[in-house]
Amino acid sequence: MSSLKGRIADQLTQARSRTAVLADAVDDDDLVTQHSPLMSPLVWDLAHVGNQEELWLVRDVGGREPVRIDIDHLYDAFKHPRKDRPALPLLGPAEARTYVASVRDKVLDVLDRVQLEGRPLVADGFAFGMIVQHEQQHDETMLATHQLRAGEPVLDAPPPPPARVPVAGEVIVPGGWFTMGTSTEPWALDNERPAHEVEVPAFAIDAAPVTNGQYEVFIAEGGYDEPRWWSAEGWAHRLSAGLVAPMHWVRDGDGWAYTRFGRTAPVARDEPVVHVCFHEARAYAAWAGRRLPTEAEWEKAARFDPATGRSRRFPWGDEEPDPAHANLGQRHLSPAPVGAYPAGASPLGVHQLIGDVWEWVDADFTGYPGFVAFPYQEYSEVFFGPEYKVLRGGSFGTDQAACRGTFRNWDYPIRRQIFAGFRCARDLRPGEV
Ligand SMILES: [Fe+2]
Repeated sequence: MSSLKGRIADQLTQARSRTAVLADAVDDDDLVTQHSPLMSPLVWDLAHVGNQEELWLVRDVGGREPVRIDIDHLYDAFKHPRKDRPALPLLGPAEARTYVASVRDKVLDVLDRVQLEGRPLVADGFAFGMIVQHEQQHDETMLATHQLRAGEPVLDAPPPPPARVPVAGEVIVPGGWFTMGTSTEPWALDNERPAHEVEVPAFAIDAAPVTNGQYEVFIAEGGYDEPRWWSAEGWAHRLSAGLVAPMHWVRDGDGWAYTRFGRTAPVARDEPVVHVCFHEARAYAAWAGRRLPTEAEWEKAARFDPATGRSRRFPWGDEEPDPAHANLGQRHLSPAPVGAYPAGASPLGVHQLIGDVWEWVDADFTGYPGFVAFPYQEYSEVFFGPEYKVLRGGSFGTDQAACRGTFRNWDYPIRRQIFAGFRCARDLRPGEV
């Protein structure tokens, strides 16, 4: 087997082990329960992962007979919104497990025989990479479902590393052109392509994501009571949804506590704030006399190397993340404190851009100049437009297979169940360099 095929097989196995951890942590009744109207029952994600794998790898790449053509419609995310999924005649837990295992057997056989060249869908193993990323993204969604379920804790992980260096204040990123997006990353998705030059004026960006401690000051100083910090749409949502603090925060004497995966503890001041929506992020930034970074600013802060003028794959360089670089892959069940990953900082000294929390940026989700939908319009293009805001950098629940300096995520600006925080930026003052 080629090293590429070996790597694909390993990544498929890793994704499936993680899916199993998330599914096997709860009993069958819990698997079929809808824990929030925002989420599918876990058993839907499980079979949906197998169904996408069947459609792309067994049928399309492999040219094989369908395994279960009768269930395609149940697991088509475009046919049934999440809230309606529990009412569907879904596969039960045992059936779903048998189904995904039989699909995987066939896929490993297809992988063994296929030539990973020629046709764009299979060149460099793209379709396999897409399916690995898809499963890992659903694993993050399943982790978010775990965070929404009530009851005793069922997931365990060691705490994240402590702060190793003090990180505060902001970093000035010089103005000029840089390369945004990629045309060379083999498993990059259509929305990350193509590489293109963007001119970004000099700006200042926070050296670290906004922390719980900073966010508590915003709350204490009446940030949620003052419409002038909010956009009109954000304020209307703040009122109708009754927002007073990040999701999962509860009053604890004079301070705050949060419940995470079934365990309640005081809010850790030095950890990045998480479970805030775009509107909250934007309001905080306005209150702080700042703004959210544009998407190009975020990516320039994360990838631009002033010494070479090149854009890196990751803030620390081109090598794949290791545990010293970033808090990724559900190794821990929370963001790490600011300063925990000095080895992951960018050349300009911006920390924790990758991992910990997804970061809202001030951008609608759109295609880059020269965008071409691949391998199908429904991957990204149908979501382009002002309805969705972009998030960058991945969270503690994002696997490295689905995270890189160019990776783009998107969601509605009101969503808070995802592991999302933010950092602030600002224009330079006249004469400031
Ligand atoms: Fe999906």
